[in-house]
Amino acid sequence: MTTLSNDYSDRYRQSLELLDRAERAIPSQAQTFSKAWTQYPRGASPVFADRADGGYVWDADGNRYIDWPMALGPLLLGHNHPGVNAAITRQLADGCAFSLPTKAELALAERLIDWFPYAERVRFGKNGSDATAGAVRAARAVTGRDRILCCGYHGWQDWFIGTTTRGAGVPDAVKALTTPFPYNDLPALNSLLEVHSGEVAAIIMEPMGIIPPEPGYLEGVRKLATEHGAVLIFDECWTGFRIDLKGAYGEFGVAPDLACFGKALGNGVPISVILGRADVMDVFDEVFFSFTFGGDMLGIAAAGAVLDVLEREAVLLHVDRIGTALMSGFRSLIEKYELGGYIGLSGYPGRHVMSFAGDGRDGLLLKSIFQQEGLARGILAAGWHAPSYAHSEEDVKMTLDAYDVSLNVIRDGLDQGDLSERLLGETVEAVFRKP
Ligand SMILES: Cc1ncc(COP(=O)(O)O)c(C=O)c1O
Repeated sequence: MTTLSNDYSDRYRQSLELLDRAERAIPSQAQTFSKAWTQYPRGASPVFADRADGGYVWDADGNRYIDWPMALGPLLLGHNHPGVNAAITRQLADGCAFSLPTKAELALAERLIDWFPYAERVRFGKNGSDATAGAVRAARAVTGRDRILCCGYHGWQDWFIGTTTRGAGVPDAVKALTTPFPYNDLPALNSLLEVHSGEVAAIIMEPMGIIPPEPGYLEGVRKLATEHGAVLIFDECWTGFRIDLKGAYGEFGVAPDLACFGKALGNGVPISVILGRADVMDVFDEVFFSFTFGGDMLGIAAAGAVLDVLEREAVLLHVDRIGTALMSGFRSLIEKYELGGYIGLSGYPGRHVMSFAGDGRDGLLLKSIFQQEGLARGILAAGWHAPSYAHSEEDVKMTLDAYDVSLNVIRDGLDQGDLSERLLGETVEAVFRKP
């Protein structure tokens, strides 16, 4: 039972009561670690969402927040987008699941082939993890090799999650086949390829996850992959359609062999994609990438509507404007409160991430106080922003006004030496704990 002994006892009462129930029904009390109560200061934060519209979300107690995580990224156009809703509703009326492939899935595949110049074939999944796992399996099948080199986050499947601190349940034999490599470090990748010469099936990476590639880096990775006969897979599940309409290829001109997209493509309706060169993709004639909801019609309908909006309207221009204002406003506040040694910010206007650390302080404590104060003022953020087409300049102003208070509280706590007393809830946890 969470004690309601702080100023927030009324504000989050419903959420906390639901959390008590969830502890008896749902392990980890959430379906996704990054959405769970561990990511917000328990006792001084909402736990359950109730509904959402545009750039706003309401919690179980009826409090409204400006929603910056946007369901972990997918809501590029905003919640409840009329065009996407209309497309899904039309599809529902025509049936949402069939026992034959559909004209609509073919049309979407053809459209994506036109969209990405290097794509010759397309297959659909539901989660980003479907796409990355499928791409890795295709690479193994086409090369006849087992080893995977990876860089970034690639989802919940054994082949990747075994490399993280959340690898419980993954056999050691599987863990041994995937090796992470550091970003923006060509010599490190090169030496891994040499150590495992002739064994590497795929290099899979987030090509522009949070930090942009250094000049020549992606070109260098492309060259190394080709020289070593490994399939190059760009995992653009997070950044796809959000940073550049044509992904890393559009931004940096480097073509992978395969690419994976998810999240923003369906604006919240589950759909993911593997696309790429025919000589690799055609192994799916044999390779088992086949499940009941592959080609699910609601995802296909939503994706078509999203592409319509992206083609017609200057979505990314707006997202860029909102994100740039957020980033520069936040940086000014860090300066104003002289917190540069404790709080950092990196990324793109369309996706940026804060870091909390420094001077031997508990970064998670700093983050928790930051979140607590923002939440009390109607800002839902878990240390990063995913601006959408639905967010307004007024939302940015409200957010920065709230952050002004949050950083002031942190500054004061550091100066007075009583930082931990400022936290009225529990300290947040990292999803991937230190080993
Ligand atoms: C880069 C990247 N790849 C893959 C995934 C996995 O996607 P999903 O959680 O939809 O399975 C994610 C999810 O956050 C991601 O950010």
